[in-house]
Amino acid sequence: METIKLANGLEMPKIGFGVYRIKPGEDTKQAVLAALKNGYRAIDTAAAYMNEGDVASAIKESGIPHDQIFVTSKLWLQDYGEEAAQKEIDRVLKATGLEYFDLYLLHQPLADFHGAWRGLEQAYKDGKLKSIGVANFTPGVILDLMMNSEIAPMVDQIELHPYYQQADRVKWLQDHNIVVESWGPFVNGQGNIFTNPVLTKIAEDHSKTVAQIILAWLLQRNIVIIPKSAHEQRMQQNLAVADIHLSDAEMKSIASLDQQHSAFDWNIMDNFDNPAMIKVLNDAKVHD
Ligand SMILES: NC(=O)c1ccc[n+]([C@@H]2O[C@H](COP(=O)([O-])OP(=O)(O)OC[C@H]3O[C@@H](n4cnc5c(N)ncnc54)[C@H](OP(=O)(O)O)[C@@H]3O)[C@@H](O)[C@H]2O)c1
Repeated sequence: METIKLANGLEMPKIGFGVYRIKPGEDTKQAVLAALKNGYRAIDTAAAYMNEGDVASAIKESGIPHDQIFVTSKLWLQDYGEEAAQKEIDRVLKATGLEYFDLYLLHQPLADFHGAWRGLEQAYKDGKLKSIGVANFTPGVILDLMMNSEIAPMVDQIELHPYYQQADRVKWLQDHNIVVESWGPFVNGQGNIFTNPVLTKIAEDHSKTVAQIILAWLLQRNIVIIPKSAHEQRMQQNLAVADIHLSDAEMKSIASLDQQHSAFDWNIMDNFDNPAMIKVLNDAKVHD
């Protein structure tokens, strides 16, 4: 499995398995077991997905040592603040039986994220987190965080797919040695992405699927991918993309699909001025 080096030297697999929208409980456990059996060595979960414990159970049951699996999770807003963040990290490590997370992210740039970041810095220094980063943070907010902290975020996980390419933000992040990770690579199936004529033509020319072409396009831009699928055949397909090389002309035609806005009305990156949406995110409670 090819890896990418984070700012602190840690190697992160370039392909992982996301577990958002997989039902907590047996569904998540079986999906992660299947992903591990098929060769995935990185799993992306979050407190907000309510399945961190199922991910940990699957890892334990797989018999694969944790040091061979890169586990990412994310802190939700209810636990933002310096002390609250550390308390939640201790709680989740105890509840899941994991000794550490390989990567831990602030899920949204809201509420007391400065305090929460200090909490992550401390847990990182204590060895509970091997690397720390953010999700859905724009460069301006990251700069603000960097000006006020000791450690810069090592990863930014953001919405990235052919309809929302965020080329300037990706460039800024990569220029600042922050690894870019894509969420929602298939727009969660919206916008007829799998039958898009441009993508279909390229897929036919390479004898691959549209899903594989999208993932190869992201990898070729040095972006980490974490596609989710509940189907084993698709898990295998999504993992078999490292050998696809797209030409400059193909990269350009995919670039032309950019609609330059988020495909999700709850994505904070495009909706920072929407008080109703911010209230919904801030009021959400994801654990007792
Ligand atoms: N940080 C954040 O705010 C944030 C937000 C959203 C997601 N994420 C992370 O990013 C991961 C990926 O994003 P996502 O799950 O929202 O969306 P996604 O990967 O864009 O789309 C997943 C959808 O695509 C389908 N699919 C997967 N592989 C396919 C293939 N080869 N051919 C056809 N259909 C395929 C899946 O269906 P089946 O399952 O039925 O195969 C599922 O409905 C999440 O699981 C999560 O870990 C993070």
